[in-house]
Amino acid sequence: MTDTPPASSGPASSGNVTRVEHRVSSESRRKHNGHAGGVLWFTGLSASGKSTLAIETESRLFAAGYQAYMLDGDNLRHGLNSDLGFSPEDRVENIRRVGALAALFADAGMVVICAFISPYRADRDLARAAAGSGFHEVHIKADLATCEARDVKGLYRRARAGEIPDFTGISAPYEPPETCELVIDTNQNSVAASAEEIFRYVKEKFPLGLV
Ligand SMILES: Nc1ncnc2c1ncn2[C@@H]1O[C@H](COP(=O)(O)OP(=O)(O)OP(=O)(O)O)[C@@H](O)[C@H]1O
Ligand SMILES: [Mg+2]
Repeated sequence: MTDTPPASSGPASSGNVTRVEHRVSSESRRKHNGHAGGVLWFTGLSASGKSTLAIETESRLFAAGYQAYMLDGDNLRHGLNSDLGFSPEDRVENIRRVGALAALFADAGMVVICAFISPYRADRDLARAAAGSGFHEVHIKADLATCEARDVKGLYRRARAGEIPDFTGISAPYEPPETCELVIDTNQNSVAASAEEIFRYVKEKFPLGLV
């Protein structure tokens, strides 16, 4: 059985490129996995809780029988995106690549949990367009003062000292979602409560067994 090409595929850089079609259909993958694939896109300031909640969500989903995989900004900057820095241009390219990657994971049938600051609205919209209908933008929301007080990695202190240029929230912008599928307020709520809220949302949007 043939299938449509992955939604992640944008225009080719050269005209001399021809798509090949999969023989395994999206429907076959859904049946195989027992659920649809899709993207949970976590966006938020540094130290808002993206990685903490992505790790928690991945392990909860996996334990519940989902094919789930986390893509984390820091991890991908060690490999796929190790050539990129934090200038506006590099941030755009960073999110373009990981948006395409996430769409491929979703097309492969996984629930992929993306933890990227992804400060620009336009870039998140491109990631959404790459993934198609299974894209869920989740604002991991904590105000700057809270994130700065947490300062898990000591980056805010260094940014305030002028040691890190282009630091989101201090010397580079963060554009919060105007509309998104889910807002998780981590200012007041515990990690466990936030993780539970996300888990409930995913179970509703990606029902197991209904294929
Ligand atoms: N409700 C919550 N959800 C998530 N994290 C929380 C919550 N409440 C407190 N925290 C704490 O906030 C910190 C979040 O750090 P984390 O590394 O997850 O942030 P991040 O958004 O991935 O940052 P970065 O963009 O720098 O990678 C952790 O120390 C975590 O324990
Ligand atoms: Mg992180």
